[in-house]
Amino acid sequence: MSFFQIDNINFNGPLLNAAGCHCTTHQELEDLFDSNSNGVITKSCTLNEWSGNKHPKYYYNNITKNSLNSNGLENGGFEYYRQYPLEIKKPYILSIAGWNNKERETIFKRLFDKNENINLKKNLKKNLKKNLKKNQFSLIELNLSCPNLNKPILAYKPNTMDELFRKWFEKYNNLKFGLKLPPYMNFNLMEDMRDIFLKYENRIQFLTCINSIPNGMIIDRKKKETVIAPKGGFGGLGGSSIKQNALSQVFKWYELLDDKIPIIGCGGITNANDVLDYILCGATLVQIGTYVKELGPKLAFDNINNSLINNISFQRGQCVIKEFE
Ligand SMILES: Cc1cc2nc3c(=O)[nH]c(=O)nc-3n(C[C@H](O)[C@H](O)[C@H](O)COP(=O)(O)O)c2cc1C
Repeated sequence: MSFFQIDNINFNGPLLNAAGCHCTTHQELEDLFDSNSNGVITKSCTLNEWSGNKHPKYYYNNITKNSLNSNGLENGGFEYYRQYPLEIKKPYILSIAGWNNKERETIFKRLFDKNENINLKKNLKKNLKKNLKKNQFSLIELNLSCPNLNKPILAYKPNTMDELFRKWFEKYNNLKFGLKLPPYMNFNLMEDMRDIFLKYENRIQFLTCINSIPNGMIIDRKKKETVIAPKGGFGGLGGSSIKQNALSQVFKWYELLDDKIPIIGCGGITNANDVLDYILCGATLVQIGTYVKELGPKLAFDNINNSLINNISFQRGQCVIKEFE
């Protein structure tokens, strides 16, 4: 088994973009496919296209290397990502958010109900039909942890998640997904969540931790206002200073899950040593958000890959850390 493997999907190395960072339009996805990332994930989608929150909704501080965002799920709609029309050159992960459980179920129905697929083919425009290989993505990442929606974060509600998973998995035999998790500040809650994840161990393919840290705030002192507008200035924190929180989550999940579900580490990665830290804490892959958004995929993945190659050997699909500063 290759080190960089999730379920039966092999990755040539550990580096992916993080959902929402340079992956909203087909052009951005193409940039990612052309870059040296080892996989591509889409913006979290809803059933229909959505313009997201009002501007300004993203802020980046060049000195601290931190971001604050309240994007509000600006996305092209689920079919736009499912029907990505160009060549899929590496594992492609579809990130699904949905506004509510009814909408999530509709998306699962479209993806996993045979009749729905036949209807889709009938109704598609000719040029898309020609290119459409049914469900082109390799994996799904279900995002139940978006911090910017004025709604409770479902991933903090173990009983609701348990009930939903039972219902969805019973209804759709082929449904499997990974989960994007928020940061948990309470180990007891993580233990409750762990029991649920292990109950559905054969259907939950991976855990990605963490999403942006909810309800951060940055003030523009000159203007005497918050740097982003939606939700009264509260937004999800990303970038360098969330790495410590994210790393401890990866470490804790690895300990709790006893290696039964692979973990994708995400938060504050800007160089090869950050990647190594995540791998040492138990991550199989990593996702890079703010750094990719700021530098663009080509430069971001080239920078990290160039220094990784000196530290990690991918011989025979195994990950060997040669040098660690
Ligand atoms: C502008 C922006 C948009 C984001 N949109 C999403 C999203 O749609 N779905 C999601 O799961 N996470 C989203 N995130 C969170 C990132 O995927 C990632 O979890 C977070 O930024 C931490 O990684 P980083 O420190 O490398 O940025 C977004 C982050 C940013 C900065």
